[in-house]
Amino acid sequence: MNTVSSLFDLRAARLSLNGTVGLVPTMGYLHEGHLSLVSRAKAENKHVIVTIFVNPTQFGANEDLSKYPRDLERDLSLLRPLGVDLVWMPTAEVMYPSGYQTWVEVDALTSPLEGAMRPGHFRGVTTVVAKFFNATQPTKAYFGQKDAQQAAVIRRMVTDLNFPLEMVICPTTREADGLAMSSRNKYLNEAERKAATVLFRSLSGAKALYEGGERNAETLREKMKAVLATEPLAQIQYVSCADYDSLAELEIITGKALLSMAVFMGKTRLIDNFVLG
Ligand code: PAF
Repeated sequence: MNTVSSLFDLRAARLSLNGTVGLVPTMGYLHEGHLSLVSRAKAENKHVIVTIFVNPTQFGANEDLSKYPRDLERDLSLLRPLGVDLVWMPTAEVMYPSGYQTWVEVDALTSPLEGAMRPGHFRGVTTVVAKFFNATQPTKAYFGQKDAQQAAVIRRMVTDLNFPLEMVICPTTREADGLAMSSRNKYLNEAERKAATVLFRSLSGAKALYEGGERNAETLREKMKAVLATEPLAQIQYVSCADYDSLAELEIITGKALLSMAVFMGKTRLIDNFVLG
């Protein structure tokens, strides 16, 4: 497994890879969810590139970038047995050279949900991911369904900017009790960790109504809120039942829909979602 930091070394290493390349962009502090993306990329491509970069431009002023968990040695030891060819760990100076002023922005899709709660977040995500795509020239790029809006926004960017690659969105990896895996779960204390299963329970409750024939989106939103309200440690930021493609809030579900939510568990902000239909 080749590990590089500079663009020069990345380009030289990329040139030596012949055949299909699967890219898994990450911010490190890897968990089973990331590893499942890497395994899928390995199964579907001749080569796999993983990027590890805690991207400063996708953190808001009130989100503590310096506290984001990092453990590079552990990350590399998890990737080595998976047959990853190349790990790119650029510095902030490589990604954002002095005087940086070029941004990639997706319009309407970034307005609701995470975009509304985290202004500027998706501009940082699409800019850095576009730069990863340019530098690594992947055949396929792998992202988790856990960040549903991120996947939709990047898919839009790939279409709009004619990136010659295929997006692969992989299912959310969950703990045995249903909690979606996330690097941020590390911030939860014991009581919050127990309480955090309420997100999965609330999504499951709404899904059960849907499977029983309910198509009124507000009824599903109310169900999710009602289950979340049973957990005193949970503070709802938003609960949504939206069209899967446009992310616009629905009145009646007629096609594919996205149930999603952001919930504070103490100081930790958790997101989760289910796709319906
Ligand atoms: O999902 C993430 O970990 C990040 O948003 C990504 C896609 C690696 C961009 O920094």
